[in-house]
Amino acid sequence: MLNLGVNVDHVATVRQARLADRPSPLAAALLCEKAGAWGITAHLREDRRHIQDRDLRDLNARVRRLNMEMAVTDEMVSIAGELRPHSCCLVPEKRAELTTEGGLDVAGGFDRVTAAVRALKRSGILVSLFIDPDLQQIQAAADSGADYIEMHTGSYANAAASSRAAELDRLKAAAAAAADLHLRVNAGHGIDYENIRGILEIPHLCELNIGHSIIGRAILVGIEQAVREMLALMRNYQG
Ligand code: PXP
Repeated sequence: MLNLGVNVDHVATVRQARLADRPSPLAAALLCEKAGAWGITAHLREDRRHIQDRDLRDLNARVRRLNMEMAVTDEMVSIAGELRPHSCCLVPEKRAELTTEGGLDVAGGFDRVTAAVRALKRSGILVSLFIDPDLQQIQAAADSGADYIEMHTGSYANAAASSRAAELDRLKAAAAAAADLHLRVNAGHGIDYENIRGILEIPHLCELNIGHSIIGRAILVGIEQAVREMLALMRNYQG
């Protein structure tokens, strides 16, 4: 079975546009769960542009499984250690980016990433590393002791029609390599109601983390309906 994690960051983006109290990421998350989402993801960015510290605390107290996306910094490791969410996904973070661009360089920053993985695991948190579908990064992720990788699907999602098949092949090969190394495999970034068709050809997937397309659709049809439509597409996953 393929699980859906809904990223509720952009509910907070709408709220922060007016520095208001609503819409509430927690209220949205609870509706996502009601519609069948397996998990809820939120990214506490260093600049706090959308999710705030209090959102993370509220979500962690109320949702079944919170996946905290975070940069590899002492501040974030310390916040996660106090909060103890179900899982943490370590991502690269640049202040000027619109969204997470590219995967974490686990191989290049091996000691720093491994120290964060170990600290989080000591707190009983499952750890995922958000990486490009690259064999060197996958090996480094396995060596770091992480439980999961989350494959960055942005290159596939943004690819021109002519290179989409090649990007998908890269994701399929990476998933197989990660499974051989006993890593569990998630995927996320840029997945929408159309390009998910290709994503479902990737073997070994445990979970898809999807934010922008679901929150965007929710504006038109409501968040429960938006989640249900995505789950209906995921239902036939063969693994
Ligand atoms: N996974 C990770 C690690 C991310 O950083 C993001 C974007 O915040 C997502 C999944 C969701 O991407 P999208 O909003 O494009 O669905």
